[in-house]
Amino acid sequence: MTIAPLRHHARAVWSDSRLLYALEEVVETELNRHLKVAKEWMPHEYVPWSDGRDFDGIMGGEAWAPEQSKVTDIGRTALVVNLLTEDNLPSYHHEIAQLFGRDGAWGTWVHRWTAEEGRHGIVMRDYLLTSRAVDPVALERFRMSHMSEGFESDNRHSMLHSVAYVAFQELATRISHRNTGHHSGDPVCDRMLARIATDENLHMVFYRNLLGKAFELAPDQTMAAVRDVVVNFRMPGHGIPGFERAAAQMAIGGIYNLRIHHDDVLQPVLRFLKVLDITGLGPEGLRAQEELGAFMADLDAQATKFDERRAALLARRAARTEQA
Ligand SMILES: [Fe+2]
Ligand SMILES: [Fe+2]
Repeated sequence: MTIAPLRHHARAVWSDSRLLYALEEVVETELNRHLKVAKEWMPHEYVPWSDGRDFDGIMGGEAWAPEQSKVTDIGRTALVVNLLTEDNLPSYHHEIAQLFGRDGAWGTWVHRWTAEEGRHGIVMRDYLLTSRAVDPVALERFRMSHMSEGFESDNRHSMLHSVAYVAFQELATRISHRNTGHHSGDPVCDRMLARIATDENLHMVFYRNLLGKAFELAPDQTMAAVRDVVVNFRMPGHGIPGFERAAAQMAIGGIYNLRIHHDDVLQPVLRFLKVLDITGLGPEGLRAQEELGAFMADLDAQATKFDERRAALLARRAARTEQA
């Protein structure tokens, strides 16, 4: 029998259970930091209740009509996508509870995170129905169809891939909510989405700091996970009925597109953790780092092309409006 030398051990593949155990301490630290900085807020305070009135049907009120909505067209599209994304929380909870567990600091985080996310769906639905911003019947049918499909993470096979994914995804959600608010045309909506975006930012910070610790523990494996997640990134709402069309409108509308994805979501996390500058990697990690760098450069070039096409399209639209 030979005993593996220590340097081989250092390059050994980390199993998910070993990583869970090794990260527990940083989870506890980050959880305590999170609980200190996360301010309590009340969803009901963000809803313009006095704008509300009965709908048709059982209450015999007025049916919804598009002209009742104060929100812009692009705001309506994005609000529905963002709310349906939040609505699938039971599936997200199931995914992370299975992966991170329900005990100890991990479990406390999983439940706390779920409770915070629950507020997002509550406040958005209350706002949308009270202000008559979107068609309530279509919204409910979308929710039923979306939730009936459930959500299965692309990264459920691996702890590191999951931690990397949620770090980027929480920031993507933050940016999408924030930009939806800015383009909604309703200051009440903007204020509500800004509040949600603050939560999403704290979620991102939690996972990003965890990812930083994972880089210290298992640099090569974490680099490979980050490369895989960045290269294959999909928004959590990709299963929403009509998602492709809505995503295309949101891209043109400046809510979420390649430029925003590159500049405001991927880059901030990669830069903060200095991912492309990490040294001392083994061959696997080095290859992953190079592939990640090449992917980012290519994405930047694609984003520039997209920006040009978008600018041309918006100029044509503006010219048409002026003629009309
Ligand atoms: Fe959320
Ligand atoms: Fe979140």
